[in-house]
Amino acid sequence: MRLPFHTVRLTGQTVCRRSSAVALLRCSGQRDANVSHFSHSVGRCASQALIYRSHGDPCRVVQLENIDLPPVGAKAIQVKMLATPINPSDINMIQGTYAILPELPAVGGNEGLAQVIEVGSHVKSLKPGDWIIPKDAGLGMWRTEAVFAEDDVISLPNDIPLLSAATIGVNPCTAFRMLSDFESLKPGDSVIQNAANSGVGQAVIQIAAARGINTINVIRDRPDFKQLSDRLKAIGASFVIREEELRRPEMKEMFKTCAKPKLALNGVGGKSATELLRHLQFGGTLVTYGGMSKQPVTVPVVTTSALIFKDVKVKGFWVTQWKRIHSHDEMPFRAMLDELCSLIRQGKLTAPACTEVGLQEYHKALDAAMQPFISSKQVLIM
Ligand SMILES: NC(=O)c1ccc[n+]([C@@H]2O[C@H](COP(=O)([O-])OP(=O)(O)OC[C@H]3O[C@@H](n4cnc5c(N)ncnc54)[C@H](OP(=O)(O)O)[C@@H]3O)[C@@H](O)[C@H]2O)c1
Repeated sequence: MRLPFHTVRLTGQTVCRRSSAVALLRCSGQRDANVSHFSHSVGRCASQALIYRSHGDPCRVVQLENIDLPPVGAKAIQVKMLATPINPSDINMIQGTYAILPELPAVGGNEGLAQVIEVGSHVKSLKPGDWIIPKDAGLGMWRTEAVFAEDDVISLPNDIPLLSAATIGVNPCTAFRMLSDFESLKPGDSVIQNAANSGVGQAVIQIAAARGINTINVIRDRPDFKQLSDRLKAIGASFVIREEELRRPEMKEMFKTCAKPKLALNGVGGKSATELLRHLQFGGTLVTYGGMSKQPVTVPVVTTSALIFKDVKVKGFWVTQWKRIHSHDEMPFRAMLDELCSLIRQGKLTAPACTEVGLQEYHKALDAAMQPFISSKQVLIM
């Protein structure tokens, strides 16, 4: 997926800037990252890491290698990785098509859960045993151990399930923000979304249900449609429909029992986005956060009337940008994580359907993460 942001190539960074993807290598135990760093030059002990030295097909360019860990500085922590998912943005970063790209070679993986095993002498906020997740994209989480700057991570309570913790920082946060920041949604209101079986989609369903908001969930047709539909309804989906049904007159029947959506969430693009736009109520908002079909979001003649006569708004959202905007004040991120953890403890927010894969089987996991109709997040278990 290519997102409509300017590409930032993270080369030649020398300063560790908090909450910025420049932390990518510098603050991730790859201080002054360069090829020699990966050649076992000066480190204490080895960590295993999934590294790519050039952009391309992840199954070809990613390799499991031993890399050295640098000493733990005064404001740094050493962590042991516990679990880390493979998200579409990880794949796009390796392919070289994402909005931010690391200096190469780079360790893959933007999200994951780690446990602190050692802290530097000036570390205040963390102690051995704590769980942490990255504050920003780009730390390189696909590895067994790492040394990170204290400022680049945020702690997480360790009384929630491991898979929930490992997948909380990107998709549930994205769902939370999109349901909170664009429309004022009340119980009884409706949200329509495509890619409803994605990690984001499953979080949208559950957070919306916890707030009493109906969700109309669009997925691609498949042989096991009923099974997937039942699964999504079991986590709180109000309606689950096929892409094709969006264009059928039966949609009118649905809107006899359910309010027209105030908010449409688009992770697909192309025709699918256009159809979501058509079903919005007067003044509603379409938020695009992903482009899985690689088709552009267009506003053709049929939806021009939606803009003119229904005053719909067309917007975009990127959780990385949200995190960076709030990087100087941890409170908004902390407050969101607290709310998400509370939902998890109440059983109202579960991890997406996951396939746990050992690090050594990374090829299998990368391949599965790029297949259609898998409906399961690949999570590397360390
Ligand atoms: N903007 C942000 O802040 C933000 C944050 C998180 C995620 N995202 C983006 O959101 C999207 C979903 O991420 P995720 O981690 O939730 O994904 P995921 O769990 O890996 O699921 C992928 C989803 O994409 C669908 N899909 C794949 N290819 C498709 C195609 N050609 N046409 C239509 N649907 C297709 C899949 O449907 P099938 O089951 O039918 O294959 C599935 O629903 C990605 O584009 C990701 O980059 C953006």
